[in-house]
Amino acid sequence: TYLQDVTIEVTVGSIFSYETVVKRWPIILTSIIDNIYRINHGLSVAQLGDSANDNATIVQEQIEEGKNLIEKIGKLKYEMGRDRPLEPVANDGESMVDLYNAELASLTEEGKGTWFTAPWLFAECYLYRLLRSYFSQTTYWASHDPFQAQKQETFRKSSQAIFQLATTMHQLEGEKEKLASDPQNLNVIFKEMIQMCLWGNATDLSLLTHMSHEDIEHLQSVGKDAQAARKEYILTDDQDKVWSHLMTLKDGRIDFVLDNAGFELFTDLVFADFLVTYTPFVSKVVFHPKLIPWFVSDVTPPDFKSTISSLLSPTFFPGSEPETQTSSLAASALAQNPTTVSTPKELPESRQHLKDMVTRWAGYLESGVFALSVSPDTPLGASNPKADFWTSPYPYWNMKDLAPGVFDTLKDSGLVIFKGDLNFRKLTGDVKWPADTPFETAVGPIRGAFPVLSLRTNKADVVVGVEKETAERLDQSGEKWRVNGKYALVLFLPRA
Ligand code: F6P
Ligand code: MG
Repeated sequence: TYLQDVTIEVTVGSIFSYETVVKRWPIILTSIIDNIYRINHGLSVAQLGDSANDNATIVQEQIEEGKNLIEKIGKLKYEMGRDRPLEPVANDGESMVDLYNAELASLTEEGKGTWFTAPWLFAECYLYRLLRSYFSQTTYWASHDPFQAQKQETFRKSSQAIFQLATTMHQLEGEKEKLASDPQNLNVIFKEMIQMCLWGNATDLSLLTHMSHEDIEHLQSVGKDAQAARKEYILTDDQDKVWSHLMTLKDGRIDFVLDNAGFELFTDLVFADFLVTYTPFVSKVVFHPKLIPWFVSDVTPPDFKSTISSLLSPTFFPGSEPETQTSSLAASALAQNPTTVSTPKELPESRQHLKDMVTRWAGYLESGVFALSVSPDTPLGASNPKADFWTSPYPYWNMKDLAPGVFDTLKDSGLVIFKGDLNFRKLTGDVKWPADTPFETAVGPIRGAFPVLSLRTNKADVVVGVEKETAERLDQSGEKWRVNGKYALVLFLPRA
C-alpha cells in the first residue's frame, strides 16, 4: 500500500536481478542437489558395508526420497532458466502457504507470474519457501537444512578473525575501569565494534559462489588498519547518532533482526557482548532468527544453538589439536608440510580468550541477558507468530498490520538492529528510490515506531540515504557499487 502512495518502480528488471535468476540461483540449486547427492551416496556406501543392517528398508526409503528431491530441484532449475511460471507452494502444513499462493495468483493475473517477470523480492523469498516445502513433505529429510554443511564449513574458515576478536575482547577486560570512567573511551571502542558488526555482513553465502578462502579472510580482516581503510566505503555513516541514542538508554533492550550464520552471527554476538558487558546502556539483547533455511546462510534456531557449541569445541576450528597435546607437535607438522596444513594465525592464548568469552555468552543465554525470540530448540519449519514474518515476502512497511505480534515486541525495544542486505531491501520495499531519498521516507509507515539501525553492505540495487553527488559519481565510475558488497550504509532513525 505504501508503494501506491509513493508510486515508485519496483526493482524487477534490474541487471543484477536478471543475473541472479540466470546465474546465482542455478548455482545455489546445484549446491543443494550436490548436498543431497553426497548424503545419498554416503547412505548407499554404508548400506553396502553393513549387509545385516536391520534398518535397510528405512535407509532405502531415505535414499529414494533424496532422489525425488534431486529430481524436483533439477526440474525447478530447468524451469527457472526458461522463464516458466512459478508453481503454487504445496500445502505442507507449514506457515504462509496461502499467503504465498495468493500473492502468486495476483501476480499471475497481472502477467507477472514467471521467473523473469515476478518482482525480484517476491521471487527470491518464494524460492526459499518453495524449497522448504520440498523438504517438509518428506519423511526423512524434513529437518534437513541443505545449506547447513556449507554454513559450518565457511564458519570454520573464519577462525583467524574469530581468534583475533576474542583476544581484542580479552584485552578490553583489562581496560574495564578505564572504559567506564569516560564515555569518550567507550565511544572509541563502540565505533570499532559497530564497524566490525557491519563488515561481518560482507560474507553472506548467497553471494560467495566464487570466493576463495583468501578472499573470505580478506573480507573478514578486523584489525584497526583494515577498518580504517574501509571507513571510506561507508557511504552514509550514522554511527554518532546511534551512539548519542544509546547514551540515552539505561539497562535498555536491544533487538537484532539477524542475517547470516557463522562469522556474521559471531560479530553480532561480540557487539551484543560489548554493549551489555561494558556499557550501562544495555542489559538485554534479543536475537530474531529465521525458521526455515533462508537465503542460503541466514541464522536458524539450530544454527544459533550450534554456533555456541562449535565455538566452545576445542576441535571445531582448523589447526585444533586435543587440548592435552603440545603445540610443538603442530609446529613441526607445519614446518614439514606448510602447504597441506591449515595455518590460522592465532596467538597461543587466543583459544583460551575465545573460550572465556563464549562461556560468558553461554551464561548470558542461561540467565536471559541474551535470548533468542523463539526457543533455541525450535525445529526447522515450525510456525511461530514471533518469527514467521521474517520469512514472508513482505516489505516491513506494513509490519503493524501483517505481524502485530512482532511489531508490538519491537515497539518496546531500545534499538532494533536490522542486519544485512535483505533486511535493508525489506525496510525500503526494494523499490527504485532515488539514492538521495531520506531513509525515513523509504521505511514508510514504520518510521518512528521504534529506533532503527540498519547495518548493510550493498548487495542489491536499492540505495537510499546517500548524497546525490556521491551516487552520481559512483554511477559514472562504472563500478558496481550498489551490488558488489564493497560499499556499506549505516543508517539510523530515532523513535518518533
Ligand atoms: O543479491 C544478493 C543477495 O542474494 C540478495 O538477494 C540478498 O538481498 C542478499 O544477497 C542477501 O544478503 P544478506 O545476507 O546480506 O541479506
Ligand atoms: Mg543473508
